[in-house]
Amino acid sequence: MKFFIDTANLSQIKEAHDLGILDGVTTNPSLMAKEGIKGEEAITAHYKAICEIVEDGDVSAEVLSTDFATIVEEGKKLAAIHPNIVVKVPMIKDGVKAIKWFTDNGIRTNCTLVFSAGQAILAAKAGAAYVSPFIGRIDDSGWEGTELIAQISKIYTLQGFKTEILAASIRNPNHIIKCAELGANVCTCPLESILGLLKHPLTDIGLAKFLEDAKKL
Ligand code: E4P
Repeated sequence: MKFFIDTANLSQIKEAHDLGILDGVTTNPSLMAKEGIKGEEAITAHYKAICEIVEDGDVSAEVLSTDFATIVEEGKKLAAIHPNIVVKVPMIKDGVKAIKWFTDNGIRTNCTLVFSAGQAILAAKAGAAYVSPFIGRIDDSGWEGTELIAQISKIYTLQGFKTEILAASIRNPNHIIKCAELGANVCTCPLESILGLLKHPLTDIGLAKFLEDAKKL
């Protein structure tokens, strides 16, 4: 399973990259706004900076429009920023149409805002490189987000779809473990969820004892 970081914060991306386990980055308009990125020039420069840190991993850049023609124009510009840019397109009718257009024209896409298996089938049929089921937001609304990962994984395997399952809206380290168990190809996580995987009290107790005994050597 690949690890993407779900942020537009350059220092967090660098920290995950320096850990040696980073395979890519996902961003969205909310994450870009949180970093105070404003205007086309600044957005382009920020994506370039992210791609440079990640070196050879995919970086999802989301379109801001919702009609087919504008999504295509915007996506072409985003894809031209760097070869590792994957155009992130919302799961709407014009979005599906645009994903098919991008697929036919050699531009890779990440279909975002996916909350059902039916939507995931449409994204795969249109040729999306990635489908992004938002498991945390499903949990927030009282359902079990990881069940959707299991369902999509079963369907994609049975049907031979090539689209990779990119588990998104990750809230905690257990989500990552569950998604790995259920066959997600990628997890895109906040830095604290990735770092949360490091933690176990027995590791801390064991290390303290080893360090104490090391003084006797
Ligand atoms: C990533 O592609 C999504 O935009 C992101 O994971 C959404 O996460 P959130 O539900 O925490 O906003």
